[in-house]
Amino acid sequence: MKKFIYIALASSVAAFANAEIPAWHPPTKGEVRSPCPGINVLANHDILPRSGKNLERQVVVDALSKWYNIDVAISTGLFEMAVNFSGHAGASSFDMVDIWIHHNATVNAIEGDASFSTVWKQTRSFWQGKTIDVQEFGNAAQARYLTSNATNPTFYFPDVQNIGAAMAFMTSVLGDPVAGTVPTRFVDDWIVNERLPARLGWSTNEKLTDLATLGDLGAKNSGKFFHAGGHF
Ligand code: HEM
Repeated sequence: MKKFIYIALASSVAAFANAEIPAWHPPTKGEVRSPCPGINVLANHDILPRSGKNLERQVVVDALSKWYNIDVAISTGLFEMAVNFSGHAGASSFDMVDIWIHHNATVNAIEGDASFSTVWKQTRSFWQGKTIDVQEFGNAAQARYLTSNATNPTFYFPDVQNIGAAMAFMTSVLGDPVAGTVPTRFVDDWIVNERLPARLGWSTNEKLTDLATLGDLGAKNSGKFFHAGGHF
């Protein structure tokens, strides 16, 4: 009997948590998306505007705080980065298309030559288990960097830490920000479908993602996740 009550309680809690998440659908005609899965996912749930346009500072900060439990200082910094790199410093909003600006020797931006989701087959081949740990994230990031460097004649990626930072961000928000592990199914759903993996068991992390948690994740990875020297 007791067991039954626990199961009933657990399923009603899960259903409640999922019911709160606004409906998901991929972008339709006229809706734009960015090179960033983190904000695309939120737009697909209408947490950020589905249109992908006019993302206001407070809306972005609130969304990243409520759904990803990200520290306000980080989300404010990301917002600033988006408006600065897209050439609209001081603006109160940005469109997702604004941040599709390729980083090269003359343009300082963040969309770069080493995105791991654009070589998903290769990236995914490093993750064979039910969970992904920081070493496995680091191995995939390193492979992406090295392959790109070897095969892309115009490869430009001076700040290797960006890959590690993105991976650490994903780990901290989707998984265990202290252990540095994430259920593989969460990453698949989030990256491939650009969807919050709530129906697969994910819910917003109780632990805040801030510079301390991200830094600790980096320290766990013996130089592959974050790499201080600039090159592997
Ligand atoms: C206003 C907020 C944000 C902005 C402006 C932003 C911007 C970007 C940009 C421009 C990229 C492309 C980098 C590249 O091509 O090398 C990127 C990648 C990425 N972002 Fe964000 N981001 C934001 C929030 C987030 C959040 C909240 C998360 C995680 C929860 C996240 C996770 C990632 C990941 C994992 C990638 C790497 C994708 C890949 O390499 O394929 N971002 N972001």
